[in-house]
Amino acid sequence: MEDAQLYVSANAMQRRDALLVLSEYLPQMSWQEEGEAVLDIGCGSGDVTRNLLMPLLPRVEQVTGVDVSSEMVGYASKTFQHNSLSFRHLDIEKSIQPRQIFPDGFTKVFSFYCLHWVRGQDQCLRNIYQLLQPGGEALLVFLANNPLFTMYENMSLKPEWQEYMQDVSNYVSVYQHKSDPAQSMVEVAEEAGFEVVSCEAPKLEFVFQNINYVKNAIKAVNPFVKRVPQDKQEAFLKECLTELASLKTRRPDGQMVARYGLMIAHLQRPE
Ligand SMILES: C[S@@+](CC[C@H](N)C(=O)[O-])C[C@H]1O[C@@H](n2cnc3c(N)ncnc32)[C@H](O)[C@@H]1O
Repeated sequence: MEDAQLYVSANAMQRRDALLVLSEYLPQMSWQEEGEAVLDIGCGSGDVTRNLLMPLLPRVEQVTGVDVSSEMVGYASKTFQHNSLSFRHLDIEKSIQPRQIFPDGFTKVFSFYCLHWVRGQDQCLRNIYQLLQPGGEALLVFLANNPLFTMYENMSLKPEWQEYMQDVSNYVSVYQHKSDPAQSMVEVAEEAGFEVVSCEAPKLEFVFQNINYVKNAIKAVNPFVKRVPQDKQEAFLKECLTELASLKTRRPDGQMVARYGLMIAHLQRPE
């Protein structure tokens, strides 16, 4: 995903969830008297980092947002300038020695709606562990499962769209087909050395304001649409919507609703 402007205009669900989780979990984290060094992984357009995370932190901190997309980092840096905030490029899955990039490490690591993009959960969790100072805490929030991923899988079987979606499994959360996603996450986190403070994947619902909003929300995060020739993109998106509607995502009153599992992992690097 690279269109930061579109994402900012269509990320109400992601913002709702970030707010929900931060309100519940920030008070459960331990906060030092001294300023803390905070990292936000997969910061995207930066609006969640700047407008939700920063104001809710117990005191003004040094905050760094990182993202694999240079377009997103560029947009965030330009749009959200602040003395205590900076944005950098980092691939949390592929990076091998992230402490070479951030030698001091961080006391808190957050990540919202990013880690369902990551196939290599083992390396990702090891990297987050490395990036934390001993005693540091991580709050990782992402999609455990979502009908959106079922829609991708179904679309990839259709002859018309098959050629654009051959790598569909790369874009489906690795927890989508797990019977107990939270337990699977606990195993990966413990293997990386973390102490799991809590890990759950509650079922949530989000009702979209109208069908156009759903279309933009799908477009903003859909990795396939830009591969489809321009003259077929509208038809592709329309079929995505039809496919989603067939997955019991339409309420009796006609409104579209997303029902999904949100992974919320609160982890600590031991002292
Ligand atoms: C849906 S956006 C979430 C943005 C923001 N955190 C929010 O909650 O609105 C997901 C972001 O994760 C980034 N991302 C995906 N894979 C990544 C990786 N391996 N390392 C760092 N960022 C990644 C994408 O580029 C994208 O900007």
